[in-house]
Amino acid sequence: MREKPLILVADDEERNIRLIEAMLLPMGYDIAIAQNGRQALEKVKELFPDVVLLDIMMPGMDGYEVARRIRKDQYTRIIPIVMITNLGDVKDRVNALEAGADDFLSKPVEKLELMARVGSLVKVKAYNVHLRNYQEKLESEVNQRTGQLKAALKKIKEASHETIYRLCRAAEYKDDNTAGHIHRVSNYAALLAIKLGLRKKTTESILLAAPMHDVGKIGVPDHILQKPGKLTPDEWVIMKMHTVFGSKILEGSHVGYIRFAEVIALTHHEKWDGSGYPLGLKGDKIPLVGRIMAMADVFDALTSKRPYKKAFSVEKSFEIIKQGRENHFDPDIVDAFFSITDQILDVKEKYADDEINIIPKPNVFGT
Ligand SMILES: [Fe+2]
Repeated sequence: MREKPLILVADDEERNIRLIEAMLLPMGYDIAIAQNGRQALEKVKELFPDVVLLDIMMPGMDGYEVARRIRKDQYTRIIPIVMITNLGDVKDRVNALEAGADDFLSKPVEKLELMARVGSLVKVKAYNVHLRNYQEKLESEVNQRTGQLKAALKKIKEASHETIYRLCRAAEYKDDNTAGHIHRVSNYAALLAIKLGLRKKTTESILLAAPMHDVGKIGVPDHILQKPGKLTPDEWVIMKMHTVFGSKILEGSHVGYIRFAEVIALTHHEKWDGSGYPLGLKGDKIPLVGRIMAMADVFDALTSKRPYKKAFSVEKSFEIIKQGRENHFDPDIVDAFFSITDQILDVKEKYADDEINIIPKPNVFGT
């Protein structure tokens, strides 16, 4: 903070400068001097004066251009400008206003008039600075609060996602499935969604919803769920009900990805040719998320060890999927699957069953 207000006088005539200086110095102002437009701009940036008294007619860069450049610069734009000219016609004044001048003085400059102009504009500058500082402070506070809010929301989101993963893992425990299974199927499904061109938000919802596809198994008795041999027809009827149980557990949510999960739970065992369960839906009557999940779930089941079977090789699993094109699976999804097998196998390796990795990250989005 400077003691006295600083006035920059820009004029190419030494005599004019001395005249103004002689009026302002005794009134308690400090003076800085510029003898051409370029020098005036340099001093404006360097000294950030309280008022600029600007001669219009200067060699090289004239006063209009200096005023325009002062106004263009974010830092200097709040400095008041008074144009001084001996060309008093209206056109000059309009040009000066358009260039950004706040006021005018005519040559020869009258002392009282100069005092009045400078005095009020020094106050305007102080007010402008105060306003700008306040605005900057406000913006910085808003940014800080927004950052805190975002961090808090991120934590809540992570906590809710982790809770879902852990609950799903609890449901899968009965079925001898692993945390790896949950991660693999959800990432397979998300990769397929990306390949199929679904929007990022939809893909993220699928990634979060997919772990819940078998949550209904919680309603299937253990002796059926864990039976090593073939199920009887009656046991099958109950086993198939895990799709309905799951959708009942998840129904009625206002959260987008839980609504997705409800649809996935109900439809992930439907088949393209209509021979699936529980509804026997056919073709694109099966919701897309259900068709995607079917592909992801079956590939993981094929390549994983289950109570009733060994893990198949990747090659054999690919062969089975190929055979399922147009009967078990949506042909477009099979094609999408085979165009991203490198990424699918990366996920398979990353979330192999021997790795204990419960927290739902990192995922295909790298978050
Ligand atoms: Fe299932």
